[in-house]
Amino acid sequence: MLKVAIIIGSTRPGRIGEAVAKWVHDLAAKRHDAHYELIDIKDFNLPLLDEPMPPSQGKYSKAHTKAWAAAIEPCDAFVFVTPEYNHSTSGALKNAIDFLYKEWNNKAAGFVSYGSASGVRAVEHLRLIMAELQIADVRAQVMLSLFTDFENYSSFKPAPHHEATVGAMLDQVVAWGGAMKTLRAR
Ligand SMILES: Cc1cc2nc3c(=O)[nH]c(=O)nc-3n(C[C@H](O)[C@H](O)[C@H](O)COP(=O)(O)O)c2cc1C
Repeated sequence: MLKVAIIIGSTRPGRIGEAVAKWVHDLAAKRHDAHYELIDIKDFNLPLLDEPMPPSQGKYSKAHTKAWAAAIEPCDAFVFVTPEYNHSTSGALKNAIDFLYKEWNNKAAGFVSYGSASGVRAVEHLRLIMAELQIADVRAQVMLSLFTDFENYSSFKPAPHHEATVGAMLDQVVAWGGAMKTLRAR
């Protein structure tokens, strides 16, 4: 069965990303087309990239890099749950992505974003990053507004129509994740 990681892309105390990612995971867990797992980059305590060799060489020297690689390597596809910080994704998520290379290659990804402009600019940046990592990123995208999907910009109350978009995004992630798995098997 396909393994899809739902990655929490913010690490700050009081983050709303955790509630968003858990909501996505709860919806995903009702499906039977893949195994969905929450991955919290906060759990890995990654410092700013401190590997002496470029990640594309795969020569990881630090225990935290090896643990992070071991979490990402078995996954076939990803759902990145990202905030928008200064019109991009979070530094924490970019740093976590930068730590690895081959563990991302020839896999698929979808996005769930949130912010005052629903995080769309964060996802546009992430799509550029996906190309370099050889990740096939799907079109369907869940965009949550701080004004209408959160009470007081903090308590998560998603509008009901987002559930259908989560479903459409996961449909595409599973389809492309499966296709990329056959590519990796070649
Ligand atoms: C450093 C920083 C920069 C931010 N920049 C933006 C921004 O450019 N656009 C936006 O819509 N929201 C911005 N925000 C607001 C965040 O979208 C909001 O605080 C959200 O709760 C952050 O996600 P998190 O709680 O999971 O960390 C910014 C927040 C922070 C902390």
